[in-house]
Amino acid sequence: MLKLSVNELREKYIQFFVSKGHALIPSSSLIPENDPSALFTTAGMHPLAPYLLGEKHPAGTRLTNVQKCLRTGDIDRVGDDSHCTFFEMLGNWSLGDYFKEESIKYSYEFLTRELKIPSEKIAVSCFEGDSDIPKDEESAKIWRKLGIKEENIYFLSKEHNWWGPVGQTGPCGPDTEIFIIDDNKEPCGPNCSPACDCGRFLEIWNNVFMEYNKQADGGYVPLSQKNVDTGMGLERTAAILNGYKSVYQTEAFAPVMRLMDQKTKKGAFIKEKRIVADHMRAAAFILGDENGVSPSNVDQGYVLRRLIRRAIRYCRTMDLDTSALIDISNLYVDFYGGYYKELIQNRQRIIEELSAETERFNKTIAQGLKEFEKLLKYIQNNRISGKAAFRLYDTFGFPIEMTTELAADHGITVDIEGFKAAFEEHQRKSQKGAEQKFKGGLADNTEQTARLHTATHLLLAALKRALNDDNIRQRGSNITAERLRFDFNFPRPLTKEEIEKVEKLVNEAIEAGVDIECNEMSLADARDMGAEGVFGDKYSDQVKVYKIGDYSLEICGGPHAKNTKELKNFKIVKEQSSSAGVRRIKAVIDTD
Ligand code: ALA
Repeated sequence: MLKLSVNELREKYIQFFVSKGHALIPSSSLIPENDPSALFTTAGMHPLAPYLLGEKHPAGTRLTNVQKCLRTGDIDRVGDDSHCTFFEMLGNWSLGDYFKEESIKYSYEFLTRELKIPSEKIAVSCFEGDSDIPKDEESAKIWRKLGIKEENIYFLSKEHNWWGPVGQTGPCGPDTEIFIIDDNKEPCGPNCSPACDCGRFLEIWNNVFMEYNKQADGGYVPLSQKNVDTGMGLERTAAILNGYKSVYQTEAFAPVMRLMDQKTKKGAFIKEKRIVADHMRAAAFILGDENGVSPSNVDQGYVLRRLIRRAIRYCRTMDLDTSALIDISNLYVDFYGGYYKELIQNRQRIIEELSAETERFNKTIAQGLKEFEKLLKYIQNNRISGKAAFRLYDTFGFPIEMTTELAADHGITVDIEGFKAAFEEHQRKSQKGAEQKFKGGLADNTEQTARLHTATHLLLAALKRALNDDNIRQRGSNITAERLRFDFNFPRPLTKEEIEKVEKLVNEAIEAGVDIECNEMSLADARDMGAEGVFGDKYSDQVKVYKIGDYSLEICGGPHAKNTKELKNFKIVKEQSSSAGVRRIKAVIDTD
């Protein structure tokens, strides 16, 4: 096997697929725009969903890239050898172009010829079929033809060999997963397979054959085109190629682990160090993203806050001064900044936000400690009740782990079951709110989302005119079924008159009943035409330009209405500060 570094593997993968006629597209933001069904981009296909559903992609039918991804579902497993919250996913896509045969052949060629992985070390799994979808004999046949031994081909259930959709509805399909067999590990039993957790099978690549669209009623409808969506975990594969036991030995993490080893007891607190390393990397990428958010109590900001605070907590466990978090973030910016330029551009923001959040949390801890001391006076039977522990958590933001540790220092226990019960009760209540929000999922609401998104184009144009400022740019956008949210640079609050003027201009464009035209062209042509862009240099060479009469001209990939009349009526419901120099508008349109 070739011992490639993370950077070399990223480069080699992309070069290989470019040599096979794939267009290299940039990584999308970690924070999805116009998709209220997910907080973060979770896979390379996520920003490509409209194209998998049949819309034409300006870069063609064969694409490749590396995508910044974040998944929090496995956060409790972070600290083991391979699970990370943030990771880079290498991917290649066929949008109605090639299907199973070429996809599997490309994967096999890349693994055996480019990475020099011996064929006998490769195991694969295919979908065993169920009452809805037949067994995937075709993929297995292709693997056999390429030389994968029968005993290394497994058929597994939907739980293992099916992927998608990202939300409740959308593109999905059976997949074939590729594993490297770790010969140092004996089979764990007669039924040892990639489905078990014994560690003999190391997953590196997933090829999804996206040919279905899952419906809201749970049914599967064939898509108008058959697509391929693949994903390879970059650090995980680099670790396997190098024979490392864990991803933390790759050069992405090694300097960070070394730094913590220097400042604490070397070789101790391995799990804690890994968690800090993982969480700080995720935090650096969220803060440094082109759509970066700040720590808060909602949505992406809440996840960010949890990641930072969890890292701080583990620093305390290791007796590591939290100033190390700044050094760690700088190491990540240094390492990744060569590829992800936004990290370099946003270095200062990353450090400032991180310092501010650390300070806030240290205050929270100080207050929590005071409350804890008070609580000690009232406890009975040397036990802190679940309710009291939950109050510390809910009211003072004091993490339950800290309550337990402090209690242990005082020789008392905590009613963890009672805490969990109080916590779940609280979640049940907020779940209702979350479900409400989920109803706004993009896939269920495409038309409404498209209209709200179209309204953001008109809004941006109207802001420039009403405020007489051509330097106004979009700084962020988020859409739910109910409203649009739009951030833009402007140094002061808008006056009531200005808000009314903006509304009036947007409503004039709506009443004019203008068709929305879409044209594909090179990025240079789009710029020459004066088309508005959002992400600086992050576009593909070929882009889509949306023209709304004389009102607006924007480079964009989002869903759009056909005519402005569909928006009916536009109203701003809120204008507020978003961050220094950035204003935020929330607005609605008529739905009946
Ligand atoms: N979308 C597929 C995955 O994330 C490739 O595994």
